[in-house]
Amino acid sequence: MGIGIAEVFAAGGQDVKVVEISEQVFQNAMSGLKKRLQKRVERGKIRQEFAEKVLKRVRYVPDIRELVDADLVIEAIVEKLDVKQNIFHELAEVTSPNTILASNTSSLSITSIASAARHPERVMGIHFFNPASRMQLVEVVLGAETAPSLAEQVKRWLKELDKEPVIVKDTPGFLVNRIARPFHLEAYRYVQDQIASKEQVDRIMRTAGFRMGPFELQDLIGIDINFAASVSVFEGNFYDARYRPHPLQRQMVEQGAIGRKAGRGHYSYEK
Ligand SMILES: NC(=O)c1ccc[n+]([C@@H]2O[C@H](COP(=O)([O-])OP(=O)(O)OC[C@H]3O[C@@H](n4cnc5c(N)ncnc54)[C@H](O)[C@@H]3O)[C@@H](O)[C@H]2O)c1
Repeated sequence: MGIGIAEVFAAGGQDVKVVEISEQVFQNAMSGLKKRLQKRVERGKIRQEFAEKVLKRVRYVPDIRELVDADLVIEAIVEKLDVKQNIFHELAEVTSPNTILASNTSSLSITSIASAARHPERVMGIHFFNPASRMQLVEVVLGAETAPSLAEQVKRWLKELDKEPVIVKDTPGFLVNRIARPFHLEAYRYVQDQIASKEQVDRIMRTAGFRMGPFELQDLIGIDINFAASVSVFEGNFYDARYRPHPLQRQMVEQGAIGRKAGRGHYSYEK
């Protein structure tokens, strides 16, 4: 997801610095981006020179201190509150007081993430959808302490990138991930009740007009990420039974069948 967000900004003419756990992980993500851009060149959607410019604008930096003069930092690491809080604590220490610090979290509380930072007023949510380069919607989330002026600034930047920003409340799952919970969770229950197979559910939902069925969409999102979102919407709503996650989600995470990125999930992607 992080490299997709970097692509959006680079395609909009911005220089992007990426911090990863290692340069190798970054290079793997870059070769994925290179392949995707190449396909678009071959299909005549973009020019070769444009693809090269996008790639040149994205570069790896080994240390978050190199983000000191960034206008905007967008965090897109694991969906775990304590891990994100640690990063925001560190980001607030090392960046300039004018840097806007944003999380791409799908479902965690922005207020809670921001509480770990020395400047919670400059922490907000900027939630892209997968694949970031193609999905227009971006949820803009203000935490309880976020300076309201940031919303207009960030909306302006996102519009310049041809995105459709919407301001949503800092509630568990924001808007899309909350409304999408039954789409994902009822699908598990439907299959468990042996009413239909995963393939049938996906095919019928596509025929009904959805771009993807729930199982193929989960494979794209990452079953680990979708499970984390399910858990945090459930917990955030004080264990309301309507949002109860499904045991098969956890089992698939435990067995490493987490979707396309692992080569297997609800479907197999092994070459
Ligand atoms: N996958 C989606 O469809 C999707 C959509 C919208 C939002 N999100 C959100 O984006 C975030 C990332 O999701 P993802 O699917 O890309 O997860 P992922 O597990 O595929 O990728 C996370 C990346 O973060 C890196 N990372 C972990 N700790 C780090 C650290 N301390 N410093 C630098 N890099 C670190 C990992 O190496 C990995 O490359 C989550 O908060 C998720 O909720 C995901």
